[in-house]
Amino acid sequence: MGLSEKKILLIVSGGIAAYKINNLVRDFIKKNAEVQVLMTPNAEHFVSKLTLSTLSKKPIFTDFFTENGTWNSHIELAHWADVILVAPCTANTLAKMVHGICDNLAIATYLSAKCPIFIAPAMDLEMYQHPSTKQNLESAQHFGHQIIPAEHGELASGLFGLGRMAEPETISKTIENFFNSAEHSQKLKGKNVLITAGPTYESIDPVRFIGNHSSGKMGFALAEEAAKLGAKVVLISGPVSLNINSKNIDIQKVTSAKEMFDEVFKHYENSDIAIAAAAVSDYAPKEIAREKIKKNDDNFTLELVKNPDILKAMGEKKTKQFLVGFALETENEEQNAKEKLIRKNLDMIVLNSLRDENAGFGNDTNKVKIFTKNSEKDFPLKSKTEVAKDILGEIVR
Ligand code: PMT
Repeated sequence: MGLSEKKILLIVSGGIAAYKINNLVRDFIKKNAEVQVLMTPNAEHFVSKLTLSTLSKKPIFTDFFTENGTWNSHIELAHWADVILVAPCTANTLAKMVHGICDNLAIATYLSAKCPIFIAPAMDLEMYQHPSTKQNLESAQHFGHQIIPAEHGELASGLFGLGRMAEPETISKTIENFFNSAEHSQKLKGKNVLITAGPTYESIDPVRFIGNHSSGKMGFALAEEAAKLGAKVVLISGPVSLNINSKNIDIQKVTSAKEMFDEVFKHYENSDIAIAAAAVSDYAPKEIAREKIKKNDDNFTLELVKNPDILKAMGEKKTKQFLVGFALETENEEQNAKEKLIRKNLDMIVLNSLRDENAGFGNDTNKVKIFTKNSEKDFPLKSKTEVAKDILGEIVR
């Protein structure tokens, strides 16, 4: 609990409040956090690299390149962090963050981050009150970043008012509270979750295949959200162009339904929860032509054979697993979904219909109805991330 072993990437920008950052770094280190400091070029006028490096026990990064020509990877830095804290955040750095003006390593790192972001603004009275600053803070909040509000008091200019960076103790407590409440909400901690996602491709010949329009977005969102709840996730995905960065997600890429079947059963026994969001091709060509099929005749007949039903096999082999299927329907939606729930021996089924606008394949949104044997619950159209949270919420319940 607390800050122990948490990785904090601290971006220091060039304001007078930077002199307080030494105390903040000291406090983080005392609480056993790992701190990587990244300074904007102007920050160096206000606080010494040597002091921060000594306190954080790490080198301090400012530029894309070191003096001996090696590259400081903003992507690696961003992906290393559990949180990014920008303190002090000047009006200039705030504006660059909000508008994506990527002219230094700190902003490039911020733009590459997927972790939660905290901003502790610090500026003079009028700057803090200016409509552009207010608007930029609102935009940052809208991005999901958390603002640690500036405080009232004497400012470096001699003026009194709002604009002083929050005290290091307040900032440290805010970050600590965040990790404590995140750990409280780790409702799937210790659980192994298996998820299938995306389409399968069934080869016809070396250039053609039978596939479908699944983008993988629904399954990937489920994987990301399950990992955020503390689960260890194995994500088995058909061919999609999405990537995952969470350390708690082991992604296995497959192409055909048979490959997906084999991969699923390497992990199924060890799973506590299995969710089948993949759009698996029900049929595959009986034979795959070794050479590209030539267009000789006007008609061409392809003989198809049934693929294994992966979810049904999971239902048959179920021991401890909580098994969740999807139903993608175009007619008699509810009846078909309920019938699949029973036939495949599921604990829950998530119905999405291609008759609902912006739901199902490809979209960033989905509209689902969740059935168990004795309950049903309708959800409005939402982003796939929110839908994933709803599904996992129902599973946890
Ligand atoms: O990937 P996206 O673009 O984000 O789109 C998401 C989605 C629409 C693909 C997803 O929400 C979804 O509905 N996935 C299931 C699609 C599907 O194949 O539905 P189905 O009703 O044909 O299959 C029922 C269930 O059996 C599904 O859980 C499916 O994964 C599973 N199945 C089906 C056939 C088969 N051979 N093996 C299976 O495991």
